[in-house]
Amino acid sequence: PRKIILDCDPGHDDAVALLLAHGNPDIELLAVTTVVGNQTLEKVTRNALAVGTIAGITGVPFAAGCPRPLVRSIETAPDIHGDSGMDGPALPESTIELDPRHAVDLIIDTVMAHEPGTVTLVPTAGLTNIAMAARKEPRIVERVKEVVLMGGGYHVGNWSAVAEFNIIIDPEAAHIVFNEKWPVVMVGLDLTHQALATPDVVEKIAAIGTKPAKFVTELMDFFAHTYKDAQGFDYPPVHDPCAVAYVIDPSIVSTRKVPVNIELTGTLTLGMTVADFRAPAPADCHTSVAVDLDHARFWDLVTDALVRIGEP
Ligand code: BDR
Ligand code: CA
Repeated sequence: PRKIILDCDPGHDDAVALLLAHGNPDIELLAVTTVVGNQTLEKVTRNALAVGTIAGITGVPFAAGCPRPLVRSIETAPDIHGDSGMDGPALPESTIELDPRHAVDLIIDTVMAHEPGTVTLVPTAGLTNIAMAARKEPRIVERVKEVVLMGGGYHVGNWSAVAEFNIIIDPEAAHIVFNEKWPVVMVGLDLTHQALATPDVVEKIAAIGTKPAKFVTELMDFFAHTYKDAQGFDYPPVHDPCAVAYVIDPSIVSTRKVPVNIELTGTLTLGMTVADFRAPAPADCHTSVAVDLDHARFWDLVTDALVRIGEP
């Protein structure tokens, strides 16, 4: 199995990413870390523990990380994720105890404790924790296998005309992460806007009939409404599990090697993930972007994970 650390801000789609990572037999979930994003650190951490409880996750450390971005002030997304950060389903009291370590230390400890080239970081939120970890322990950069992140977009934005939420909420952190020399796969909006929770998908998940599956249909129901109202989508794009799906089976997500950097000074373009498509990509190019999603196989992975999780 592929060893991953999921760094998230649940978040409806983060919850699905966590369920996919837990339920898929080809993933070994080493740690779950949280960071301010869709809601405050306190709220997203509570949500992560609730999802872990619903899924029956045991033996995996959960740790809370940075409560604010490196430079900017906090920006959350209540219009998309509600006041709790994961509105819709009722959330259980957590049976998981939070790890006492700071998420940045848990990330560093976990990467350093495993063989070089074996741990993949999967950030599905602002990049504050990951940037801090790279600065606190620079040796993780060579040691990490790759960083497969949900964020950005090479020709589309959602929080501004050209910038995506996870990047624009902490552009300086994103700048650090994209400029370190580890392999970075940007699973951006170009790809995740193909991961729509269409009615056939939601029906299939509902038919599983377990509590975790029902939880996902309730999440999707809320997400469908906010995405329609706030962003005019017919069906909601379920961004974050796309990054996990790429780690499980890269043939589900086609990618292209292309230099990407983060705009930090543009007055209209702050947080833009600027991709340079002039060919050929330089020999030392360490970034690639996700292009096309196999919609059917992606959702098969999610439903299969829910079937395997069963009724914990
Ligand atoms: C990203 O922003 C968050 O609201 C979602 O959880 C996802 O990670 C999409 O732009
Ligand atoms: Ca997220």
